[in-house]
Amino acid sequence: MTQLAIYPGSFDPITLGHLSVLQRAAKVFESVELLIVHNPSKKPTFSLAQRVELAKASLAEVGAPSNIKVSTLESGLLVEHAQSLGAKAIIKGFRTASDIEYELPMSQVNRDLSGIETVFLAAEAGFGFVSSSLVREVASLGGDVSKYVTEAVAKALQGVSK
Ligand code: PNS
Repeated sequence: MTQLAIYPGSFDPITLGHLSVLQRAAKVFESVELLIVHNPSKKPTFSLAQRVELAKASLAEVGAPSNIKVSTLESGLLVEHAQSLGAKAIIKGFRTASDIEYELPMSQVNRDLSGIETVFLAAEAGFGFVSSSLVREVASLGGDVSKYVTEAVAKALQGVSK
């Protein structure tokens, strides 16, 4: 069976930090699914459909390999989706200790529910401070976010009010 890993998140919008983690995961696993999840505890700037389009455009822009696919999870448990695809692992990126505090219980409950392991990849040094929320804020105040996101995302962020 193909060794599939799932990289889930809100990706509102996808950043170069996410793309770095994704492309590195695609070197470790035979295939990786970027799973854009509806997280009811967040009020997204971009709809799920927009986030999918931005992710696909960004993957094309950076010349990502063909073993990366994009899909969505509108409801239900991540691990049920992962099990239905026979996924080997869940991928998460981390930048700081507070990311680990947030991610640790999720990885533990996901493993407890399903046996599926979460594999953590450390952010590339240059992207250690890059987050979707920071990028949205900088863009909404007229700042240049071209170092942190693809052109497609930078364009989509233009005109989005905070
Ligand atoms: O980018 P985010 O919003 O921090 O990602 C969190 C996300 C969407 C990966 C997480 O909330 C999730 O896995 N949601 C799916 C529902 C689920 O399985 N919840 C229980 C385990 S956390």
